[in-house]
Amino acid sequence: MRYLVTGGAGYIGSHLVDSLIADGHQVDVIDNFSTGKRENIAHHESNSNFNLFEDTILNESLLEKIVPEVDGVYHLAAAVGVKNIVDRPLDGMITNVHGSHSVIKTAAKCKVKTLIASSSEVYGMSDRTPLKEDDIRSPGPTHIPRWSYAVAKALDEHLIMAYKKEMGLKCVAVRYFNSYGPRIDESGYGSVIARFISQALRGEPLTIFGNGEQTRSFTYIEDTVRGTRLAFENPKGEGMVFNIGNAKEETINELADLVEEAVSVKVGREQKSFEEVFGTDFQETPRRQPDISRARDILGFEANIDIRDGLKHTVEWAKEHYKTV
Ligand SMILES: NC(=O)c1ccc[n+]([C@@H]2O[C@H](COP(=O)([O-])OP(=O)(O)OC[C@H]3O[C@@H](n4cnc5c(N)ncnc54)[C@H](O)[C@@H]3O)[C@@H](O)[C@H]2O)c1
Repeated sequence: MRYLVTGGAGYIGSHLVDSLIADGHQVDVIDNFSTGKRENIAHHESNSNFNLFEDTILNESLLEKIVPEVDGVYHLAAAVGVKNIVDRPLDGMITNVHGSHSVIKTAAKCKVKTLIASSSEVYGMSDRTPLKEDDIRSPGPTHIPRWSYAVAKALDEHLIMAYKKEMGLKCVAVRYFNSYGPRIDESGYGSVIARFISQALRGEPLTIFGNGEQTRSFTYIEDTVRGTRLAFENPKGEGMVFNIGNAKEETINELADLVEEAVSVKVGREQKSFEEVFGTDFQETPRRQPDISRARDILGFEANIDIRDGLKHTVEWAKEHYKTV
């Protein structure tokens, strides 16, 4: 089979490319390298099953050339990272609404099955736990830029549903919950895990935002990619949204302890308020735990990599790739 992976030079996208290529598929990647990295895909560049288009998903004429040639689209390209979205909300919305629409519209026209990468952010401030796909969502007020990402990702889900209804698009959406693993970006757009590992390797105290009692469900990349492919490949999942995440949750304080253990150091903590980091127009969510019963019952998905093992692999990789001085 031949697939288009948008955002294929990114953290999750490049692991998905690895997995598709390893199974003998042909893969085309569109990536503008805004947060993606050449080194994430460099090992495929001489492979005849791999084509890289260094371009933007906003280029509809490029999409019209590639999409009719492929058997499926994995749409992962997006402006990501809370800090990035808070600092540059307009760019984020243009990519995540207009860019996604271009990909979805072209796929519908060409009758090519499409998976979109959505996010646990769509649940917003919901205090339900665990979060179910059909729960009421609660994004905060529009003057808080963080929520523009949540609303854009939710709109992308509406778009695939609308193209399914009106043009018969075969589609599926996955809502990721805090994926981590090798290639995760330490530069500031990446996750708290990347930041903690990077600080621990440099012997710096780990910066905790707020009191550190907020929880997240950290999902190792192998589980993220397996869930993504199961969602795409299982026809029973068509037209549905799936939480793809680890049902187990950790507080940020617990995570800090686990990272120290994985790096074998004791570096202490530095506390910062959310206001200091993100400014006054910011709201934080206290919990983000997925209910994965739909993914388990329909796709047979369950995240099964323990966080200690996942962190061990991530630290081994980070020692070779992060700046440690
Ligand atoms: N990492 C997570 O835990 C997580 C959680 C929820 C949702 N997601 C979603 O998963 C997808 C992948 O995220 P990631 O964590 O791998 O981030 P990433 O930044 O590593 O990947 C995004 C990729 O999209 C590319 N990109 C951005 N704008 C583009 C454009 N206009 N045209 C072409 N390429 C463009 C970037 O260069 C990058 O390679 C995104 O859609 C993101 O919203 C990720």
